[in-house]
Amino acid sequence: MKLLVTGGTGYIGSHTAVLLMQAGHEVVLWDNLSNSSARVVDRMAMILRERPLLVIGDVRDRAALDALFAHQGFDAVIHFAGLKAVGESVERPLLYYEHNVQGTLTLLQAMAAAGVRLFVFSSSATVYGDPASVPIREDFPRAATNPYGRSKIIVEDILADLITADPTWRIARLRYFNPVGAHESGLIGEDPRGTPSNLMPYICQVAVGRRPQLRVFGDDYETPDGTGVRDYIHVVDLAAGHVQALDYLVGKAGLLTVNLGTGRGYSVRDLIASFARAAGRPIPYVIEPRRPGDIATCYADAQAAQRLLGFRALRDLDRMCADAWRWQQQNPHGYDG
Ligand code: NAD
Ligand code: UFG
Repeated sequence: MKLLVTGGTGYIGSHTAVLLMQAGHEVVLWDNLSNSSARVVDRMAMILRERPLLVIGDVRDRAALDALFAHQGFDAVIHFAGLKAVGESVERPLLYYEHNVQGTLTLLQAMAAAGVRLFVFSSSATVYGDPASVPIREDFPRAATNPYGRSKIIVEDILADLITADPTWRIARLRYFNPVGAHESGLIGEDPRGTPSNLMPYICQVAVGRRPQLRVFGDDYETPDGTGVRDYIHVVDLAAGHVQALDYLVGKAGLLTVNLGTGRGYSVRDLIASFARAAGRPIPYVIEPRRPGDIATCYADAQAAQRLLGFRALRDLDRMCADAWRWQQQNPHGYDG
């Protein structure tokens, strides 16, 4: 198939584009480079020995999208583009709704006008809010605690309405748990701008000496060791889930909603220990108060993805840390370092 991958130079988009191309698809990347580097394309070309086309553009720009669709003739769109920092979304809600909701709406309108009706959307476990129990199943109630999460719920609802109005659409709402790690080549990985807000990139920067120590946000949760528990999933497993979701939609019209996680939870201390083994050095840390808005435990029920897509995460926590460390060591200052 010929695929448009929005947000294609970003962390998850770049890994997914590599797997899509390796599965035989033709890929065009569309990104405004607000949170990524064009150099990722050089790295992808080194992995693939083939260079994906990058078109610099914004999903809020309808005229540019129309021109792209008229020129390219896509079969499907995989939509990663958007803003994802929870704290920033609280400070700048209009910006988040503009990129994540209006941007997606504009993209869907351009698709409808061009007759492209196969769409894969990056949703998030954040739509479950603070779940009543774990593991989290897809039919659990949704409740966002911040504008970022609400933007994901709104888009999920728009997509459901779209299918109701026109059942010829084929749409996947993929709810990612905590993507971490990097491609095994060490050529592409997560390259956050500024101070990382997520755990794994922060640990990476401590290990490589860019930051003195990790701050562990709370050790008084009701979890086995008191620190927060999450479902970390290797980004290459997550990427593979997109290839499988696309295959599923080719065979079946309608709406697919699945968790992409491992079904296992690990604590902050588990991650620190696993990373220290991978890097062969201790990760200094201090315990600090809980981070506002954090929940104790979050992990997926991964059975629906297995049943519907044949999806199973193959890479364990040690592998996630080893691959994250390889990327960090080879690129201590990211793509532009
Ligand atoms: P990322 O920031 O690395 O990638 C997003 C890409 O979109 C960036 O390259 C950025 O430049 C681009 N972009 C942003 N706004 C744009 C716009 N208006 N037009 C065109 N391009 C734009 O983030 P990521 O971690 O790869 O996340 C990809 C998607 O997955 C996002 O929608 C995010 O909300 C979702 N998601 C991420 C996580 C996570 O923990 N990383 C978890 C759940 C869901
Ligand atoms: N943590 C620390 N220190 C840090 C960063 C994080 O102790 O410097 C802890 C957090 O308190 C939490 C765990 O590490 O217990 C994971 O935190 P992350 O920030 O890495 O991930 P979250 O689960 O908080 O959130 C992430 C994304 C959200 C997304 C959610 C579910 O940031 O956008 O996963 O997909 F919605």
